[in-house]
Amino acid sequence: MAEEERATSSDTDQLALRDLVMSDAVRAIHLTIDTEWGSLQQSARQTAAARALWGHVVNDPLADVLAGEQLLQGLYKKMRRDRMSNAKEVSGVMLAIRTLWFDARLQAAIESFGGGHVQLVLLGAGMDARAYRLSYLKETTIFELDFPDLIQLKSDLIRQVVASSDNQTNLTVSSDRLIHVPADLREPNWLQKLTDSGFSPGTNTVWILEGILYYLSYDDAMQVLETIARALEKTAHAVLLADFMNKSAVSLSNDMYQFYSDWPDQLLPRIGFCNVKVSQIGDSDANFGLLTDPENLFERRRKIPRSVDIDSLDGSPCCRLYLVEATESLSGEDS
Ligand SMILES: C[S@@+](CC[C@H](N)C(=O)[O-])C[C@H]1O[C@@H](n2cnc3c(N)ncnc32)[C@H](O)[C@@H]1O
Repeated sequence: MAEEERATSSDTDQLALRDLVMSDAVRAIHLTIDTEWGSLQQSARQTAAARALWGHVVNDPLADVLAGEQLLQGLYKKMRRDRMSNAKEVSGVMLAIRTLWFDARLQAAIESFGGGHVQLVLLGAGMDARAYRLSYLKETTIFELDFPDLIQLKSDLIRQVVASSDNQTNLTVSSDRLIHVPADLREPNWLQKLTDSGFSPGTNTVWILEGILYYLSYDDAMQVLETIARALEKTAHAVLLADFMNKSAVSLSNDMYQFYSDWPDQLLPRIGFCNVKVSQIGDSDANFGLLTDPENLFERRRKIPRSVDIDSLDGSPCCRLYLVEATESLSGEDS
């Protein structure tokens, strides 16, 4: 189905949203987010908006409610403009591909464990709805860690969906258990909070750091990665899935982004990870048929060696998002 049809546009260039998104209760929660949250937590709604508007490829029954009307309309306008100007890539495509890459690698990781109970730890979970949308998490305990106020308002929004007569999807948690962990990753006690919530270091685990590392300072990001690396030593099978911005991407962000790595495949082994694989948006495992114009920006970047910072064609910085998978040392020895 064409994206334009799926986006249910009205005659104006407004996106037609379901009643629930525009209900007083949902609007009131988003107003609180608008007025009380900083840009760090607000970023969680942007990724939800992309998942909602790329709904023909990402099945997320909560994304529209979690994103809220304003962000949905804003992204919809951008996507519409991109399509009308025949842009080589449409806004939100990178986030859609990123979501699908994490989904695919998560499923592959769980299958590689060969059965049994699995833990999925989402650090900086934001408005992630994997607990509700992925059937292969049936035997998985999910830990969603984020700031306390984000966890609270996300739960309030989900309660609105459940209570609503608009709950067409009959929303249920598809994982075995869903546990919220209110914590700040900058505080060194976050792992203790996770453990206090029921995380067991010996159980097979997938760690997901999606859209979070670059919001942290260098020291905080390294503390998080090193803490995970130490936790992996106690786990029979574990996989880390994370995205990294390179220096050029972070430099363009006016202080919003901080941590970067141009070579996560060198950084991670230094702190104890093995089998590090790096993909870029547009690679065969990170494409999903969504980058149809052969001259799209991601394709161009992929053709330029990673050591090159400036695109000689137009002098622009080579901003890159690396999608990275790594395992703990024991399974590295097995393979
Ligand atoms: C861009 S969002 C990504 C959310 C989610 N992983 C996704 O892909 O939809 C970044 C998330 O990281 C969270 N975050 C940022 N810094 C954090 C910290 N120090 N501790 C806990 N969560 C943090 C924010 O609150 C936000 O929910």
